[in-house]
Amino acid sequence: MQRILVTGGAGFIGSHFVRYLLRHHPAVSVTVLDKLTYAGILENLAGIRDDPRFRLVVGDVADPDAVRNAIAGCSAVAHLAAESHVDRSLMDPGGCVHTQVHGTLTLLQASLEAHVERFLLVSTDEVYGPVLEGSASEESLLRPSSPYSATKAAAEHLAHAYAVTYDLPVLITRGSNNLGPYQYPEKMLPLFITNALEDRPLPIYGDGHQRRDWLHVEDHCAALDLVLREGEPGTIYNVGSGEERENLAMARAILARLGKPETLITFVQDRPGHDRRYSVATERIRTLGWQPRYSLDQALEETIRWYQENQAWWKRIKAGEYQEYYRRMYLERSVLAPSG
Ligand code: NAD
Ligand code: TYD
Repeated sequence: MQRILVTGGAGFIGSHFVRYLLRHHPAVSVTVLDKLTYAGILENLAGIRDDPRFRLVVGDVADPDAVRNAIAGCSAVAHLAAESHVDRSLMDPGGCVHTQVHGTLTLLQASLEAHVERFLLVSTDEVYGPVLEGSASEESLLRPSSPYSATKAAAEHLAHAYAVTYDLPVLITRGSNNLGPYQYPEKMLPLFITNALEDRPLPIYGDGHQRRDWLHVEDHCAALDLVLREGEPGTIYNVGSGEERENLAMARAILARLGKPETLITFVQDRPGHDRRYSVATERIRTLGWQPRYSLDQALEETIRWYQENQAWWKRIKAGEYQEYYRRMYLERSVLAPSG
């Protein structure tokens, strides 16, 4: 039985990845290390927490004791924990440095000491900065624009240094913008969907002509799993669907599907340092045998339906009720007590 440590497993992509691993690999068990920040929501792991192959350690990736406790018995690491929202990173760059830089360093060191066989760093296409024409290849220059993307790039450099200096078997993925169930409604897509459902304005930054590549979270998880198992150590893999849209087009598509008026679209002040476009070349991961299964239309349809059918989940978040929810959970279930 192989045990995999997944950091950030209570977040959006992390929770999907844990579910993916347990569903596709009966001989795999998973330890999640998660600090349960505002973005770490145990409900995202509904149906998993009672699985005997699942273990949860509540703790900080930058805390060596918590990491040592969590990594015990694991032969592979998938590192997803991050302060992942660009807008928050503009207000609190130090939070990104803590998790992306100190956290990644702590995890790399512990992974070396635990002799793990694979270390997957889940990075982002945002490390390239704006790609105004064509697509960035894995060899393109990194010019990150935000504290979020700069600290993700820093994490990559640290991982690379551990690969070169200490032979840690590091793999890196650079995924594009994900969509799917359980995405925290501060990110554009779930914010727009839930605002539209509540007949509230959809705030478009700047002129709305910024472009993103949209990847269904399940397709991203399939890529992470493939790279973790079959990727070449020391290699970086871009992951993107090739389905590129302007933000304004995404807003219009959401409103059309929900039968809501375009008058809900509201142009607001632009995000400082807002990257105009991201685009990645994906030949390398496709050669490994990956391709997206969802079209953007299908992905959007399914995602909108999930937010329609799971209103309690996002309404609780928007009402700020999770703080109280966790306080109760901590008191009721000792398994959730912070480790160390
Ligand atoms: P998320 O914000 O939904 O979840 C982050 C998780 O990390 C949360 O559960 C949070 O509690 C946990 N966490 C944060 N700081 C921590 C710390 N110091 N110690 C332990 N746990 C901590 O993020 P997401 O959107 O699921 O992104 C996951 C990863 O994928 C990130 O590394 C992100 O950079 C990367 N990524 C995201 C996207 C995207 O579109 N969302 C695209 C490409 C790559
Ligand atoms: P976001 O979901 O924050 O992802 P990222 O910045 O990491 O790509 O934003 C996606 C795009 O949507 C980005 O161009 C910023 C824009 N955006 C808005 O126009 N309005 C919003 O309220 C948000 C959150 C984002």
